Amino acid sequence: MAKPFKIIIVGGGIGGLAAAIALRKGDREITVIEQSSLHREIGATISLQPNASKIVDQWGLTPLLEAKGSMTDKGFQVYNLSGELQMKVPLSTQSKYGAERIVLHRVDLHEALKHRATSPEYPGKPVSIRVSSRVVSCSCEDGTVELEGGEVLSADLIVGADGIKSAIRRYVLDKEVPTLPTGHSAYRMVIPVSSLLDEAEFVKVIDPRESVTTMVMAHDCRLIMGPAQNSSIYSIVALVPDERMNETAANSSWTTEGDLAKMLQTFELFPDWAKVPLRLAEAAGLWQLRDLDPLPTWYKGRTILIGDAAHAMLPTQGQGASQSVEDAEALGAFFSHVEEGETWRREIESINKRVFDCRSTRASTIQAYSRQTAKPATEKGGIRINMNPAQFMDYNCKYDGAFDWERRQKASSGVENLMSNLTVGELKVEA
Ligand SMILES: Cc1cc2nc3c(=O)[nH]c(=O)nc-3n(C[C@H](O)[C@H](O)[C@H](O)COP(=O)(O)OP(=O)(O)OC[C@H]3O[C@@H](n4cnc5c(N)ncnc54)[C@H](O)[C@@H]3O)c2cc1C
Ligand SMILES: *[C@@H]1O[C@H](CO)[C@@H](O)[C@H](O)[C@H]1NC(C)=O
Ligand SMILES: *[C@@H]1O[C@H](CO)[C@@H](O)[C@H](O)[C@H]1NC(C)=O
Ligand SMILES: *[C@@H]1O[C@H](CO)[C@@H](O)[C@H](O)[C@H]1NC(C)=O
Ligand SMILES: *[C@@H]1O[C@H](CO)[C@@H](O)[C@H](O)[C@H]1NC(C)=O
Ligand SMILES: *[C@@H]1O[C@H](CO)[C@@H](O)[C@H](O)[C@H]1NC(C)=O
Repeated sequence: MAKPFKIIIVGGGIGGLAAAIALRKGDREITVIEQSSLHREIGATISLQPNASKIVDQWGLTPLLEAKGSMTDKGFQVYNLSGELQMKVPLSTQSKYGAERIVLHRVDLHEALKHRATSPEYPGKPVSIRVSSRVVSCSCEDGTVELEGGEVLSADLIVGADGIKSAIRRYVLDKEVPTLPTGHSAYRMVIPVSSLLDEAEFVKVIDPRESVTTMVMAHDCRLIMGPAQNSSIYSIVALVPDERMNETAANSSWTTEGDLAKMLQTFELFPDWAKVPLRLAEAAGLWQLRDLDPLPTWYKGRTILIGDAAHAMLPTQGQGASQSVEDAEALGAFFSHVEEGETWRREIESINKRVFDCRSTRASTIQAYSRQTAKPATEKGGIRINMNPAQFMDYNCKYDGAFDWERRQKASSGVENLMSNLTVGELKVEA
């Protein structure tokens, strides 16, 4: 009997579990290696843009997510520093893009992906997850990874889905690639909607149960907030330029604690109602936001990077998780045929190249746009993409899976044109 296609996925985050689902098929042996125990609760919400939500729907996850109280984002409103409404736009993407933008608790998405990857009730051999195992090195051409402690595991394909601080990245690129501080940090908080409903000052302006994203903008600080989990929790992201933060800049990590008193000082000038959620928060996570310049490649031999490991981006477009899901779908699509015929074990690198060729321009463009929108409009020397937000929304959302995108790229229908609008500026692409 032929030996089954063996796949190791390093990292059991959103990208790694999505890749496990996309690649799960027949008797393939798929192992996800995750450094943590996967029991940590990360209290924050995450959004899936229309096309990624459609991919997740094709995997059959919608009922699981709805049972946890996933919500569709119905609109977007912006207030200025005096607390005056500047614009309110309904945001149903259903008619235009064939899917909604959905808002989820990160833990709910992670649990649903884990269930879909590992449960025997779906087609294909269930994926196994090995927790508390940290990968320390990788031999990209041979297809082996070494775990802390010295154990070496091998596979036909290695997917590096190990996040912004990827251990695999330096083996794929043959050098360390630093993550770049972007000049901004973010506080993240989650509070119960019920506590906000008791605050007359807040509910006079905003109904926290309504599925709308609210942004309050000063010239360089902003609050972005909205409900999740069936309107039982309210999630707040507070973006601050590093130099305006009354704290020592934290290193990027999900676990750094922010100082609530210092955060309130920073947002002192914000309208009173907008500060209510900040006052109610009992704890805040603090991230120094970092991203990557576009990488010259994502693959080497049997190894390929996806998700934040390949293209970490700022959260200003809420696209990080969605791009990881799109990468995963591309792996599933281009590897779908590999067990057919005799030669597939030799084709892995060329399929990895196909994934990179299909995905990299799109991911770099969204990365650049996310960086641009973090900067005040007046800032000089930033990257510029000559697309308005509506054009960009089209670019983001008119993605019909990897096969279709590859076809469109080859036919240069639309895709090329959008790319010529991207002036790379400070985003250096090294050859
Ligand atoms: C403040 C903030 C807000 C955000 N908001 C949004 C949002 O609203 N919408 C959105 O789409 N995105 C958002 N993002 C981005 C989003 O979280 C990421 O883009 C997404 O999680 C990337 O998935 P990933 O699987 O590539 O990486 P991760 O989810 O980071 O997963 C990587 C996994 O690999 C594991 N790992 C790392 N190294 C090793 C190793 N050596 N060995 C074994 N395992 C390892 C880690 O423990 C982790 O579980 C936000 C990010 C930040 C910082
Ligand atoms: C959502 O909340 C409503 C009203 O509180 C409730 O009737 C409904 O059952 C909830 N749905 C889920 C999936 O929790
Ligand atoms: C906020 O908007 C209102 C009305 O649009 C305007 O009168 C006010 O000056 C604005 N405040 C700031 C700080 O820009
Ligand atoms: C951040 O991490 C670097 C390297 O790990 C360390 O040298 C530095 O002191 C850290 N900074 C803070 C503020 O913790
Ligand atoms: C901190 O907050 C206070 C009060 O808002 C402000 O005067 C000060 O300039 C801030 N920045 C630093 C770096 O302390
Ligand atoms: C993405 O959106 C387009 C436009 O609505 C739709 O035709 C397509 O099926 C979607 N892609 C995926 C992968 O679902």
